[in-house]
Amino acid sequence: MENFTYFNPTRIHFGRGQIRSVDAEVPAGARVLLLAGGGSIRSNGVYDQVRAALGGRVVVDFFGVEANPDFDTLMRAVEIVRGEKLDYILSVGGGSVADGAKFVAAAVAFKGDPWEILVKRGANVASALPLGVILTLPGTGSEANQASVISRRSIREKLAFLSPHVFPRFCVLDPETTFTLPERQIANGVADAFTHVIEQYMTFPARAAVQDRFAESVMQVLVDEGPISVKNPTDYDSRANVVWAATWALHGVIGAGVPQDWASHTIGHELTALHGIDHARTLAVVVPSLLNVQRATKAAKLLQYGERVWGIREGTDRERIDAAIEKTRGFYELLGLRTRLSDYNVKPDTASEVASRLRARGVLKSGERGDITPEIVERILRQAA
Ligand code: NZQ
Ligand code: ZN
Repeated sequence: MENFTYFNPTRIHFGRGQIRSVDAEVPAGARVLLLAGGGSIRSNGVYDQVRAALGGRVVVDFFGVEANPDFDTLMRAVEIVRGEKLDYILSVGGGSVADGAKFVAAAVAFKGDPWEILVKRGANVASALPLGVILTLPGTGSEANQASVISRRSIREKLAFLSPHVFPRFCVLDPETTFTLPERQIANGVADAFTHVIEQYMTFPARAAVQDRFAESVMQVLVDEGPISVKNPTDYDSRANVVWAATWALHGVIGAGVPQDWASHTIGHELTALHGIDHARTLAVVVPSLLNVQRATKAAKLLQYGERVWGIREGTDRERIDAAIEKTRGFYELLGLRTRLSDYNVKPDTASEVASRLRARGVLKSGERGDITPEIVERILRQAA
């Protein structure tokens, strides 16, 4: 295990009725930008609960943040924050709205072109407005982490940034606010959270027993409860476990001090930028193929994962690794996420386009050993055809 500093300042309010804690969290004199998506929060009562909790505070609503939040839309929100002298950003929605809120919070005070925040991956963020997150879609982990992923459709880009300044001050996780999610979206959330664990776990053994066992139990919970929650959207206990697992999958603890491999996400973001595929669905395509291409260097962890998460104990190493990869593919498919590029009408040639985009960006060595070159990315995507 490597040295690490574990830091997570986000206070988490979990459970039924917790939106009321917004009143204690947001300063009484705050001037609030309420950021939201396309309107689901109006029809399921979440908006009304949030407005009630905000009481008499000055609140300006900004609806219209897209799935895969767009830079141009968010820059309009930045102008409103500046013009109205707002000083607190409240995200009410899924991961896209939370990511958008982080960008707005960082962009308001940014000197220069805010797109540089994405180009420099957040290293140039010196401050941000305080923000809070009312989460209505579990999966991304954005409610309690320092990451944000922003799309810019006008130039076909999708880039992430990280900054400790954009950790939410608090988040509210009320599983009941997620009951209205369509099957596709909750399935996406389960698959995304599962993949976040894979990215921090499926590398090489690092004698990090706490992180390993924790990662395995988060995956087991998602395997057990994910399909139940997809089929029974108002089963509170099942959904509560999915929500909590998703937060644990990406708020820092399981990745502390261990090798990580975010190549599936890097490749997935390119597929979303080029083809508009849902984030989680890009991962369902990339992960099984990446595990197969990288099976030699990931062998020890694939065997451990197969045994501890899927109970695979019989057969040669090769057979057990095959079985672990097939279980992973089967899990995405069971949730309803197809795992081939052709399922999304994407031609195999996208493999070379993605590889050359990564090359142009200087992303030449991803993976826990830096051995996922653009050539390997191309092979992974050709195998995912
Ligand atoms: O816009 P509204 O009307 O709210 O509808 C949304 C949207 O259409 C709907 N929805 C959300 N909550 C609902 C609901 N519908 C009914 N009832 C509810 N309770 O769901 C749709 C998708 O929402 P979105 O926020 O886009 O989904 P998700 O949470 O999966 O976020 C995906 C984005 O997060 C990024 C992805 O790249 C993608 O841009 N990620 C962010 C990460 C992070 N910050 O750490 C990590 C992830 O790996 C990921 O990359
Ligand atoms: Zn993800």
